[in-house]
Amino acid sequence: MKLKVFELERLQSEWEHRVQYNLSESGVEPLHIRELTDTPELKQQLLDIQLGYPQTNGSIPLREAIAQYYPGSGADHILVTNGGAEANFLSMWWLRHEKPELNELVFMAPNYMQMSGVWKTLGGTVNLYKLQMAHDKWSPDLDQLRSLVTKKTAAITICNPNNPTGAIFDKETLGEIVDIAREHDTWIISDEIYKGAEIQDVRTPSLHGMYDKVIITSSLSKAYGLPGLRLGWAVCPDEQTAKELWSYSDYTTICPAKTCDWLATLALNPKVQAMIRKRTRDLLKENWGIMKNWLDSHGDLFEYVPPSAAAICFIRQKTGLSSLDLVFRLMKEKSVLISPGEHFEMPGYLRIGFGSEKKRLQEALGMITEFLNELS
Ligand SMILES: Cc1ncc(COP(=O)(O)O)c(C=O)c1O
Repeated sequence: MKLKVFELERLQSEWEHRVQYNLSESGVEPLHIRELTDTPELKQQLLDIQLGYPQTNGSIPLREAIAQYYPGSGADHILVTNGGAEANFLSMWWLRHEKPELNELVFMAPNYMQMSGVWKTLGGTVNLYKLQMAHDKWSPDLDQLRSLVTKKTAAITICNPNNPTGAIFDKETLGEIVDIAREHDTWIISDEIYKGAEIQDVRTPSLHGMYDKVIITSSLSKAYGLPGLRLGWAVCPDEQTAKELWSYSDYTTICPAKTCDWLATLALNPKVQAMIRKRTRDLLKENWGIMKNWLDSHGDLFEYVPPSAAAICFIRQKTGLSSLDLVFRLMKEKSVLISPGEHFEMPGYLRIGFGSEKKRLQEALGMITEFLNELS
């Protein structure tokens, strides 16, 4: 079977480094290594790293540093991966391979379409449960979810906070999803990569500890502004599951890069973590103000629900162009890259990232305004 292209990633991969303004990114302006290693001792330690293979499931200090953010878990519940993407991939592969008779995945939509794409590639069936927009909020259709979970369901997936809507699902909603999963004894794979990138002062509840068949996937790419470290993880409910997933990573990337393991341990130190998260939230708050004003100045063309987290806004557009056409014309005519709703199975929508440095964001939005003015 021919591999179905992961369209969102392919568009970004081809263009994000060629356009002048990249607003297709969902995280914040990345940090530099010098901001993490801000003392002579740390710089020296970085230079002294010997470039051998690290512990393949992540060094013990790194896994302990991750585990401290998941109460009740320890280093042996964690598998360190190359980005959240590998944690998602391994979870899908593991479920599909170990339980081939459970061939259905019940997948939240809209979403980052990686897990559904992998599942289909591995010969499984994907059933979508939709987010609905009501009362200025995106929430999952729980009746639809209930109707889709069957004896053949391997897992329900969640993306909280959600990409592309930036919605946060509260504990009550998560509890209802857990009840549905429990009734069918099915796994939940909860992608919580945007947790910590909240715009307002609401914290995202984690599914960790709410159910005994849940795997949390995450990484340093979004809330930490460190996507170039390619450092992610899976948090498993028990050591056996973590071991099983680990054996799958022996067939993919083997291990994280040694320098990245060390830098990630540093970034997860509680003091450094607090500094990074504050940077992320300050940037998000300020840039969301800019983005919101800009959107409201085009109120005749755009409708949106304000995101609660992540540097992205999901917008219904009424320009008369398809979102895909709009994205390609904007890229060619103004060298600005944004993401079309078609890549989230939501034609008619656009995802615009607002996490870049303030001046660049303002310039890029100015270019989109020019484009829109030329359309009319
Ligand atoms: C929901 C979600 N999960 C996973 C990923 C992949 O993250 P990483 O860069 O850590 O591999 C992304 C990237 O945009 C994402 O949006």
